[in-house]
Amino acid sequence: MIRPPDYVLGIQPYVPGKPIEELERELGISNSVKLASNENPVGPSPAALKAIVTVSADLNRYPDGAGFYLKKALSEKLGVSDEEIILGNGSNELLDLAAKTFMKDGDEAVMATPSFVVYFMAVQGIGGKSVQVPLKDHRHDLAAMAEAITPSTKIVFIANPNNPTGTMNGKEEFDRFMERVPESVLVVVDEAYFEYVSDPGYADSMKYLHQKKDLLILRTFSKIYGLAGLRIGYGIAKKELLSDMNRLREPFNTNSIGQKAAIAALSDTDHVARSRKVNEEGKEYLYREIGALGLAFVPTQANFIYMPVEGPMALYENLLKLGVIIRPMGPKAVRVTIGLPEENRRFIEALKAVTGAGRR
Ligand SMILES: Cc1ncc(COP(=O)(O)O)c(C=O)c1O
Repeated sequence: MIRPPDYVLGIQPYVPGKPIEELERELGISNSVKLASNENPVGPSPAALKAIVTVSADLNRYPDGAGFYLKKALSEKLGVSDEEIILGNGSNELLDLAAKTFMKDGDEAVMATPSFVVYFMAVQGIGGKSVQVPLKDHRHDLAAMAEAITPSTKIVFIANPNNPTGTMNGKEEFDRFMERVPESVLVVVDEAYFEYVSDPGYADSMKYLHQKKDLLILRTFSKIYGLAGLRIGYGIAKKELLSDMNRLREPFNTNSIGQKAAIAALSDTDHVARSRKVNEEGKEYLYREIGALGLAFVPTQANFIYMPVEGPMALYENLLKLGVIIRPMGPKAVRVTIGLPEENRRFIEALKAVTGAGRR
């Protein structure tokens, strides 16, 4: 029987959660709340929903492989040229594409741990080596990451804000990091949660777009724009860098419904503002309530909160029985997505019940 190379066997397949209806049937519960995947609880932009109806009569046609109108809308919004934008089937695809384009088997990529697991998978998938640098105080340790670069390093992945900790890196430390990065290395700055950031000290990656060092900034319509199901992400970089990635990009990698919805969502600034407000208010409520229970949490710049806990698997399972779905994160923490007010309340009530805190 044919078998994949060892480096592919080194990847654990992603285990998707069961459909929520199936889970409820098994547990004999209803009305569960899903706070596990950092989706926007407000839902998609109504403008996006309206726009996609106009696509359906044309579904017999291939999508626009160049994503002309979406790239045009993005370039106007971002003040860059359309040649400086690449679209992906989620930003996830662009992480893979970056590794496939710029690395070969045996090359190294530097990344933080814990961080977004797809960096490891993308690098492992082409036979590369992931050099994992521990977070410091739950944040990327950019000085240690610069130190970890060797002549074999091709890519450094930085999640800003980081998933799962929700922490960010600021201007000065990022500038110092960029000074140290050799010109032969691509810096991938994954800004999936960019629109949620409220700290004015947040690193400005865009200012490096036209400088000598090579940088790929990744953003997505899956988070604040509420379109995770349509799989549209984008990258911003120098056009030479993107034309290399386009050599390996699938010709029709983003679908027509996603492109249309993304254009509408991009101009629906009310929806974005509402989503940010719901997130900020939910964050304040959760900080207060989690703190009042005497439990630890890491302040977040994203739409989820990282909670260091003992026995995260047991906590996850106990909350699940009460219809609250969160994410266990390794042996020492859980991650909870900030939901709608009622969902956050359900989470806190369940947390009180399972930790016994409500009875103290
Ligand atoms: C840090 C980070 N990057 C990228 C992604 C992938 O997003 P997309 O849906 O655009 O593929 C996620 C999704 O959870 C994420 O947390």
